[in-house]
Amino acid sequence: MNVSIIGTGYVGLTTGTCLAFLGHKVTCIDSDEKKIALLRAGKTPIYEPYLTELLAEAAPNLQFCCDYASAVPHADVIFIAVGTPPSPNGSPDLRHVSAAAQGIGQHYAGDFTVVVNKSTVPIGSGNWVDSIVRESYEKHHGKKANGHFSVASNPEFLREGTGLHDSLYPDRVVIGSDDKRCLEVLYSLYRPILDQTFAPPPYLPRPEGMGAVPLISADLASAELIKYAANAFLALKISYINEIGQLSEKVGADIQQVAKGIGLDARIGMRFLQSGIGWGGSCFGKDTSALVSTAAEYNLTMPIVEAAREINRRQRERVVDKLLGELKILKGRTIGLLGLAFKPNTDDLREAPAIDIARKLVERGCKVRVHDPVALERFRQEYPDLAMLASESAEEVADDADALVLVTEWQQYLELDWEALAGRMRSRIVLDGRNALDRARLTRFGFRYLGIAG
Ligand code: UDX
Repeated sequence: MNVSIIGTGYVGLTTGTCLAFLGHKVTCIDSDEKKIALLRAGKTPIYEPYLTELLAEAAPNLQFCCDYASAVPHADVIFIAVGTPPSPNGSPDLRHVSAAAQGIGQHYAGDFTVVVNKSTVPIGSGNWVDSIVRESYEKHHGKKANGHFSVASNPEFLREGTGLHDSLYPDRVVIGSDDKRCLEVLYSLYRPILDQTFAPPPYLPRPEGMGAVPLISADLASAELIKYAANAFLALKISYINEIGQLSEKVGADIQQVAKGIGLDARIGMRFLQSGIGWGGSCFGKDTSALVSTAAEYNLTMPIVEAAREINRRQRERVVDKLLGELKILKGRTIGLLGLAFKPNTDDLREAPAIDIARKLVERGCKVRVHDPVALERFRQEYPDLAMLASESAEEVADDADALVLVTEWQQYLELDWEALAGRMRSRIVLDGRNALDRARLTRFGFRYLGIAG
């Protein structure tokens, strides 16, 4: 099938690469010429494990361009995968989605295409996109758009850092549409994934025992709500274990054991019960905020979702409180932060706790140093006011530090020579923001070990 993908961010690029790998003819469009030049040269503008490898493998089926005119006119399926960043009032900014919908209407020249909302958009956006595409088509072509377009919602559940794995081996595929023709098109597009008939790349093996992937075919509004409800649930699961973590610390319990003990109940499940600094990233903060703001339009409140957000905000403050409790005076102290990305295996800094924590510490008069194995360059570009905090290595961060904080649990940090690090520090205090380090080992090296929940 001929597929066009508008937007080469984490979602668009991952989806495009996977579909091309599966044999579809894919064109990725982005208005950013620098990004397109990079991609044409076989390089990726984002860090995502195995993306370069899969891009190379999918190259014969992949094209990159900046203009709609070369990609849209005869596409069978057009994905809108542009950014929907939060606007100041908490609702997503839909300007890029609107521009993409207009571009599709203007340039489409075939008989029938499916327009897929892959970006996370507010409930009701399917109909809104449909009306923009049609209006734009009618304006530019001078004839009715009837029958040429069908808009579907196909939410993306991929996690950054494991995006390719999640796209090739999803837990489910959700398609929201009221149109049978549209469903058939998307069913054939996803068939190799639904039936798991493709030969896996050696670096992305199929999970053992994996069978066919369930397809949820729903109406537009339900598909749109599934995405928000899933993300809000995951976010509140994390906030729940962090709330229990606070009590666990007070009563002297071990939060890891508690998480294991409740997670093994199949009704609860083990995943997303890792306590720590809490969630960051482009989805959980934005989607919980959008859910609350959509509910408000219907005069509803969402106290559970709001509480999850509040707990997450508090987790970041607890880092500063813990350091204050330990060091008594923060002014003039040197604090090293290990990790900037919102989680390991990505260079994404959106809503990364490290940024918030660094700012809070700087405001308190601390000398802050930060490091990240892959996000350092992006950090310098995106946060020029904090760029002088960047250090080239974990060792440099530790030099004369009064305390180290593990903010992102990169494997490199877990495997550091902590004994040597201890020797470089002014005082051997480590705050394990992800409850990921080996407490006994660090204590042996003379560290005063602080967990986030104990
Ligand atoms: C998330 C959803 O998982 C994905 O389905 C959705 O489509 C997009 O949003 P992502 O933001 O890439 O994906 O990362 P995820 O792995 O979900 O982690 C989000 C944040 O939660 C990270 O900051 C992570 O450190 C934190 N987290 C995750 C915890 O604090 N504890 C956990 O147990 C799990």
